[in-house]
Amino acid sequence: MLETQNLRAGYGHITVLWDLSLSFREGALTAIVGPNGAGKTTLLRALTGLIPHGGEIRLGGKRLAGKTWDLAGQGIVMVPEGRLVFRDMSVEENLCLGAYPKRCRGDLSSGLDRVYGLFPRLRERRGQAAGSLSGGEAQMLAMGRGLMSQPKILLIDEPSLGLAPVIVNEVFDIIARLKEAGTTILLVEQNTRVALSVADDVHLLRGGQVRLSEPAAQVDLDRLHDLYFAREAQSA
Ligand SMILES: Nc1ncnc2c1ncn2[C@@H]1O[C@H](COP(=O)(O)OP(=O)(O)O)[C@@H](O)[C@H]1O
Ligand SMILES: [Mg+2]
Repeated sequence: MLETQNLRAGYGHITVLWDLSLSFREGALTAIVGPNGAGKTTLLRALTGLIPHGGEIRLGGKRLAGKTWDLAGQGIVMVPEGRLVFRDMSVEENLCLGAYPKRCRGDLSSGLDRVYGLFPRLRERRGQAAGSLSGGEAQMLAMGRGLMSQPKILLIDEPSLGLAPVIVNEVFDIIARLKEAGTTILLVEQNTRVALSVADDVHLLRGGQVRLSEPAAQVDLDRLHDLYFAREAQSA
């Protein structure tokens, strides 16, 4: 289980996350929802060691203090916002980069087979430059690259961003399948409807603080949206 205790993080003198204590259940899909600027991406950056943090991050009870590359070796992998694929490299070259952690390098062809099994479209386009993919395909490539190292915990930042609704559904079908296959997933989304369609647990983040933590099945969408848009004062 991944958990944070009084996690603080930000940029320089600016604190963005204020004492977040969260836990992410093993094998479950936890959705972090919240408006733009809430600190969702900052949370993922802190969890993957891209920015320093105060407080504690624990994995399986052990405190994490490592850098990004160590964390990938421990099975925590981030699929970044905006996909960030290498446009001039082929689909397959991008996937191979995802096998960078030492323990995965020997296992390249079985990793590729596994990812191509999940994303047949990537197999068809394996030799094509990543920059020529559609938005949905690029999202699949970014997720496939993350899966190349067989992560225990996959952090996915805004996978629906800029995608047509039908493509969003396709991407979320695959996220649901990854969860069924046993991957622990942390999903950051502004689109609460699609997030709730796959989530087990939901945390609403606003202004760098947790405003609501609930099992997805108990979430009242109207109440969630009131908190999301900070309408609770008006509606009281
Ligand atoms: N690299 C950065 N340097 C300084 N401030 C940043 C940086 N990235 C994000 N921020 C600020 O941190 C806050 C939270 O941003 P972010 O975590 O990206 O929010 P979200 O992902 O929820 O939209 C925002 O006020 C944003 O301007
Ligand atoms: Mg973000």
